[in-house]
Amino acid sequence: MDKNYYITTPIYYPSGKPHMGHAYSSIVADVIARFKKINGYQVYFLTGTDEHGLKIQREAEKNNKDPKEFCDELSITFKNLTKTLNLSNNDFIRTTEKRHFASVNEVWSRLVKSGDIYLDKYSGWYSVSDEAYYDEDEIIQDGAIKKAKSSGSKVEWVEEESFFFKLSAWSDKLLKFYDKNPKFILPISRKNEVINFVKKGLKDLSVSRTSFKWGIPVPKNNKHVIYVWLDALTNYISALNFPKTNDKLYKSFWPADLHIIGKDILRFHAIYWPAFLLAAKIEPPKRVFGHGWILSDDKKMSKSLGNILDPLEIIKNYGVDQLRYYLIKEVSLGNDGSISLLNLKNCINNDLANNYGNLCQRVLSFIEKNCESKIPQPDKFEKIDMDLSEDITKKLPKLIEMIDNQDLNTYIKEVINFSFKSNKYFNDLEPWKLKKTNIKRMNTVLYCILNQIKSISILLFPIMPNSVEKTISSLSLTKKNIFLDEINNQNLLKPGNIIKKGEILFKKIESD
Ligand code: MSP
Repeated sequence: MDKNYYITTPIYYPSGKPHMGHAYSSIVADVIARFKKINGYQVYFLTGTDEHGLKIQREAEKNNKDPKEFCDELSITFKNLTKTLNLSNNDFIRTTEKRHFASVNEVWSRLVKSGDIYLDKYSGWYSVSDEAYYDEDEIIQDGAIKKAKSSGSKVEWVEEESFFFKLSAWSDKLLKFYDKNPKFILPISRKNEVINFVKKGLKDLSVSRTSFKWGIPVPKNNKHVIYVWLDALTNYISALNFPKTNDKLYKSFWPADLHIIGKDILRFHAIYWPAFLLAAKIEPPKRVFGHGWILSDDKKMSKSLGNILDPLEIIKNYGVDQLRYYLIKEVSLGNDGSISLLNLKNCINNDLANNYGNLCQRVLSFIEKNCESKIPQPDKFEKIDMDLSEDITKKLPKLIEMIDNQDLNTYIKEVINFSFKSNKYFNDLEPWKLKKTNIKRMNTVLYCILNQIKSISILLFPIMPNSVEKTISSLSLTKKNIFLDEINNQNLLKPGNIIKKGEILFKKIESD
């Protein structure tokens, strides 16, 4: 079985401050990347910044900066975000890097060679904010302004010489490709949207611009710069050292297993990208998952509504694991999801402080006080003990399947339910009473519950890596033990080893 796994986030436009949408795409991808790693995969996880195009050029001009200087500064902000969110990315690519130019040049040359590119003139609507072309029927008039129906962003009229990609020739081939690869686009609702759009027939796509300079020049014709989406999408192979197709990274990790993206950029990933790749004789990725939109109190976040939830502010006030957990729990991946500070606080209190945090704290404290801080020696296991641990081991294949279907939301609910049941087991079996009546039984119960804490912690690791590492080290285990295989290892916890209670993992949030 192929045990390599390549996963990407969208590469971010380095403009403005990182917002919750950026944080969400990144956290989702990181949770999956970390899960695959603890399931024994060699994982390559890529993120980065998308630095060319008119949008960035104009932003730079507004700030009186040269575009490269502007990107150098803002790209750092996004690189810092990867640290703040505790991402496990292997690489951070910038589309202004030399390695990326080589890769885009090669893709362009292959498209020319295959006869998929021709020179003509473009006249039509363009949204700089979306970096996208729109047809007349995709535009609405809003007062004096024309806007794209789908995104609401302003469009402007463009008329200039342009190279075109023969996208129209790819409609049927794409439909066949979707048919042969039924899980290429997920969730299914978005797949249907894409298929309906392609069925209407695709128009050729303008893939170069002449009215500005901030981009990768078209090989042998530097009057043109390459369309920023053809440039940006190629990052996913540039990072694997394409065009060196014999390179170890490329051979091990292409085609990508999963591109995590937001629904607004589905058309680029699910239509243009596979068409470019097929035309360039490169295998398309295996899956594109379009997640939904993060709303604040059911509304789109915007300055004018004053409902922006700043991920950096939240992390400063409540902690990074808390934000990671909340986003994954609250939003069902694929659908839009509303978040709020009140729900974040409730989630921290109910799931983290009162449930998982409390389980760890009360069990470790009890062992510290009553067992000289040592892992107790278990005696005979009873049915109730075995049922408890089998609840997890039997469900493990299902949990793996959930992550492979990107159903993170159900996964997290299952895992927190294990913690709830473990708290109940501890309450019901009352080890504080057993201490007086049956020490051997008390030791067995404590051993079982420690084993549960170990298993639940491993399952929570992809979501809350910092907190779980602390718990794992409290159990006298190390990072090396954070693997799914260790869940089935009933002898991992060594009786006699020292238990350290440590600090409280999740403080309860008092209401204002
Ligand atoms: N540069 C392009 C991606 C190129 S990939 C080859 C881009 N960048 S972006 O910075 O504008 O957006 C990055 C990601 O954030 C996208 O997946 C987008 O869908 C996501 N989000 C932006 N706002 C969002 C929400 N409010 N909610 C959820 N995600 C949204 O697009």
